[in-house]
Amino acid sequence: MKVVAVANPKGGSGKTTLVTNLACFMASWGYNVLLLDLDPQASALDWAAVRAPQLPHVSVMACGQQELVERLRNAKSLDSSDTLLLLDFPAGFPVALELQVYPYLDLLLVPTVASPFDVRAMVHHLFQLYRHDLEDSQAPATGVVVIRARPNTLLHRDLLENFLKRLRFPLLAEIRETQKYPRAAHEGRGIVELPTQGVIRDLMQWRPLLAWVAAELFPGREVDLFPGLKLE
Ligand SMILES: Nc1ncnc2c1ncn2[C@@H]1O[C@H](COP(=O)(O)OP(=O)(O)O)[C@@H](O)[C@H]1O
Ligand SMILES: [Mg+2]
Repeated sequence: MKVVAVANPKGGSGKTTLVTNLACFMASWGYNVLLLDLDPQASALDWAAVRAPQLPHVSVMACGQQELVERLRNAKSLDSSDTLLLLDFPAGFPVALELQVYPYLDLLLVPTVASPFDVRAMVHHLFQLYRHDLEDSQAPATGVVVIRARPNTLLHRDLLENFLKRLRFPLLAEIRETQKYPRAAHEGRGIVELPTQGVIRDLMQWRPLLAWVAAELFPGREVDLFPGLKLE
């Protein structure tokens, strides 16, 4: 079973938005998607509670921080190649525990808002994680996603050019700020499940991130990233 974590110790950095949308994309690819909500605020569980049953199924379960390693060990021992396990981390998750989780992760996605405090906190977090000299075999493939992006602002461009593009981790996508994300969340959906004509530009912003995720998780396999959608 492949495991993808979405983590950033800062609250409001877009973790739940990223992970719930990713869950919907992956469900549309035909996988069984299990999302573990590690956050006592239970935003992903709330999202699932209002999700209409006719939408592609995404299982969301609560998971206590102390039981996480055990659950991951069990999940990894199952030979279940058609199930994807996603982890929605809470703010302030202890780095020591995050490091214990690392050997079980295939991918780590780190969303951030492009503002100075957020970007510095994110870089600090990545530094804390990777200064521990994880063996290469233990470190998950890691990528950064800018969320709530305002690409036409000077600050955005500055932070991108001088910080985010200089990290040793790929900058996978810039997801713009739009009410479509809270609106989709309000209905327990991902943006891929909103009327396509209204979200084409947004889906295009997801394309490089989804392509990276698919290539890392399923090397050599062709994945139709937007099955059944007409994006022209
Ligand atoms: N691209 C976006 N455009 C507009 N609002 C967004 C976007 N991404 C996230 N948000 C909103 O920002 C807030 C924080 O996002 P959330 O995913 O809950 O962060 P976290 O899980 O890291 O605390 C939420 O209200 C969410 O709806
Ligand atoms: Mg959250």
